[in-house]
Amino acid sequence: MASTLKGLILSGGHGTRLRPLTYTSAKQLIPIANKPVLFYGIEALREAGITEIGIVVGHTRDEIEAAVGDGSRFGVRVTYIAQDAPRGLAHAVMIAEDFIGDSPFVMYLGDNFIIDGVTPIVEKFNARQSEAMILLARVANPQQFGVAVLEGEIIRELVEKPKVPPSDLGIIGVYVFTKSIFTACKSIKPSWRGELEITDAIQKLITDGRDVRAEIVTGYWKDTGRPEDLLDANRMVLDRVAHQIEGDVDAESRVEFRVKIERGAIVRRSVIRGPVMVAAGAVIEDAYIGPFTSVGENCVVRSSEVEHSILLANSRVLSLQGRVVDSVLGRGASVERGDERPRAMRFVLGDNSQVKA
Ligand code: DAU
Repeated sequence: MASTLKGLILSGGHGTRLRPLTYTSAKQLIPIANKPVLFYGIEALREAGITEIGIVVGHTRDEIEAAVGDGSRFGVRVTYIAQDAPRGLAHAVMIAEDFIGDSPFVMYLGDNFIIDGVTPIVEKFNARQSEAMILLARVANPQQFGVAVLEGEIIRELVEKPKVPPSDLGIIGVYVFTKSIFTACKSIKPSWRGELEITDAIQKLITDGRDVRAEIVTGYWKDTGRPEDLLDANRMVLDRVAHQIEGDVDAESRVEFRVKIERGAIVRRSVIRGPVMVAAGAVIEDAYIGPFTSVGENCVVRSSEVEHSILLANSRVLSLQGRVVDSVLGRGASVERGDERPRAMRFVLGDNSQVKA
């Protein structure tokens, strides 16, 4: 599908709710089914025909650049736009003005995961060029979102994280803008949380009588802001994984249901019950890997059981007695049974780590 729209992905900001994972890594690079959440966004834009993409980056710029590069492997061209501090979504838009120029553009929040991508909203925008379009979804906790009041498809009012929500229609991180948004962003003041809110800028368009429309998603989406959201999105993607065994699985192992084992992974004397994904370089020995688990690159699971969990690259689960469930292990994290006396639990945990033993 041809399109003249550009893309703007916001990948700066803090990752407060995902600490300690985000002390050492950008929240947009945390993997869902072994692929960084940001990559799903880039691919969604590409699928909608958008090949010129700006990525707003903050203090994790180096890491994001190392992962995404110039975009060629996604079939897009990426321009990095540095934001000095997370001053708000509208601030991120303003600093992208030179990159965007006169083009309409899709703004995509880099930590959002939307299974149906952005093609439906882009098609709708191409069919009827509104001043702005926003993707909305019915949410159970509207207090944590920008909230919209609709009249048909037209947005009448927007409020950022209202204490008393006027509806259950939350803004979920995909917007289509025309260049009028730049003037609107320049006219607003920081909110109570000290940020220039895109919600306020869009409200300015509405107050000025511009045509601002909504598209409501019915498919799965997630703001991957908390560990339980990561597990949920991981489950959703794994649910669609195709059975593909390219790794080295011995005859004493049993692989059931849909499981993807990448070339270079080794499985010995283990049971893997899908949907499961095992990345290259992982070693699984005398272990059970249960449904909805993503095992990242070079992980080791030995003499242990893991289910409904995400193991980031290079993490290890060794000789545990109980089953590990509902867990997210950061890069290089290690959980192991020790045989030292006295028998006790011994931890070296990063700030804000959580253990439920
Ligand atoms: O997730 C949807 C919600 O996203 C909307 O309902 C809200 O209306 C919208 O304001 C936004 O709220 P959040 O508080 O969840 O936004 P967050 O700080 O998580 O930032 C979203 C993305 O934008 C994230 O990938 C970080 C990036 N970002 C954020 C800020 C504040 C930047 O790149 N620069 C920034 O200055």
